[in-house]
Amino acid sequence: MSASKQILLNAFNMNCVGHINHGLWTHPRDESTSYLSIEHWTGIARTLERGLFDGLFIADIVGVYDVYRGNVDVTLRESIQLPVNDPMLLVSAMAAVTQHLGFGVTVNLGYELPYLLARRFSTLDHLTRGRVGWNIVTGYLDSAARAMGLSEQLPHDERYDRADEYLEVLYKLWEGSWEDGAVRRDKATRIYADPARVHRVQHHGRYYQVDGYHLAEPSPQRTPVLFQAGSSGRGQRFAGRHAECVFISPPDKAAAKKSVDALRAQLVAAGRRPDDVKVFVGAAVVTDSNERLAREKYEDYKRHASREAGLAHFAASTGVDYSRYDLDAPIAYGQANAIQSAARTAEQRGWTRRQLLELFELGGRYPAIVGSAAQVADELQSWIAETGVDGFNLSRTVVPESYEDFVDLVVPELQQRGVYKTAYAPGTLRSKLFGEADRLPARHVGASFRRTGAGTAEAREAAASAAASVA
Ligand SMILES: Cc1cc2nc3c(=O)[nH]c(=O)nc-3n(C[C@H](O)[C@H](O)[C@H](O)COP(=O)(O)O)c2cc1C
Repeated sequence: MSASKQILLNAFNMNCVGHINHGLWTHPRDESTSYLSIEHWTGIARTLERGLFDGLFIADIVGVYDVYRGNVDVTLRESIQLPVNDPMLLVSAMAAVTQHLGFGVTVNLGYELPYLLARRFSTLDHLTRGRVGWNIVTGYLDSAARAMGLSEQLPHDERYDRADEYLEVLYKLWEGSWEDGAVRRDKATRIYADPARVHRVQHHGRYYQVDGYHLAEPSPQRTPVLFQAGSSGRGQRFAGRHAECVFISPPDKAAAKKSVDALRAQLVAAGRRPDDVKVFVGAAVVTDSNERLAREKYEDYKRHASREAGLAHFAASTGVDYSRYDLDAPIAYGQANAIQSAARTAEQRGWTRRQLLELFELGGRYPAIVGSAAQVADELQSWIAETGVDGFNLSRTVVPESYEDFVDLVVPELQQRGVYKTAYAPGTLRSKLFGEADRLPARHVGASFRRTGAGTAEAREAAASAAASVA
């Protein structure tokens, strides 16, 4: 790592009460139960922008956690991502009170037609002036499948196969339907859009059929910044082809390094550069003006955290009902169809129910970094140096206190060390993250679906043959 490698920061949140660090909503200073108010979100957005955060990343699920004890009782009592509201609908309000903050929005593609999702993201990309990203998730909950009228989910790897085709449809819509220059907006000649430069998308695939025009005109980034979080072999292959940002939640630094190296190798295999992806690792930071106060705060938080809720959440991630096991009994994982990487990690480490409960002392699975601003900065820098990650996905603890502590204490420390920006770069989220153009780089698969030229037959032919060669 060069001494001045800039650390990227996302805040990790969800439109619900309990996200990762379960139980903390009961802390007297926590305001997570205000998630229904727009001011709650605009306040968070302002704080994050004050701290020059790159983005607010909003998770989502469209099912419930019903694996633990085979029901939703603990899930409801502890509010483990239930109730949960739509993440996308938060973004316009937060964009209106900020200038630079990016927004990574999770949408599960399994239950949405690509044609409609393409327009929703284009709309947000316009309204945010190019500050939107999409966290592509393929889902891991049978409860979601059942709620949508299916008996179960597609098998793990096939979910990614379908996602590959989904992305192809989206690239055709976002990149290929409207040429640059198609929109004239010319009152004098009465031409809003030039018909020769707007193309009908015809896609006939295994999972999707589309015959239509992208409904939205080209937005600043066209394709939103693509985030992804799968760490299985198939998940990494998918990321290597499509993802620009990847989230990982490894159990330690050694596992993180392995995961980052494997991911970057997948990018190279897909004809991209190893640093065409920014990797974010999940972390929970608890800090205060000195180490003693930070440790006291951590102990105070722990008294409100729920280890059992952490276990119920993890049960849904691995698909294993831990309530059926004695505290010290070995756990059988079998063929995982939920988050394969989470199940494999737990299996390899041989974690028992007791060990998992010990691990979830802050109610969740992310490693806690506790200490003064200098200690936190040391630890963040060591993650960057030893694992090759680019930044952090900071899970919330007590809200908004944890954001304010980080912004007021850790951000200035990182700035002083020259490893964190002191001002935002101009431009879209993509150009801020990569220092390049607003649009996907030419070496990304999505770029091959572009139409160039003035709608000529030659240009159309060239684009079609480029698209066919990558399909
Ligand atoms: C940091 C992180 C955040 C994730 N956020 C979500 C999410 O918000 N919604 C969701 O359905 N899945 C989420 N997932 C699950 C992934 O999208 C993916 O389904 C999972 O990692 C399974 O992929 P794998 O088996 O390839 O690892 C997340 C995973 C990680 C590691």
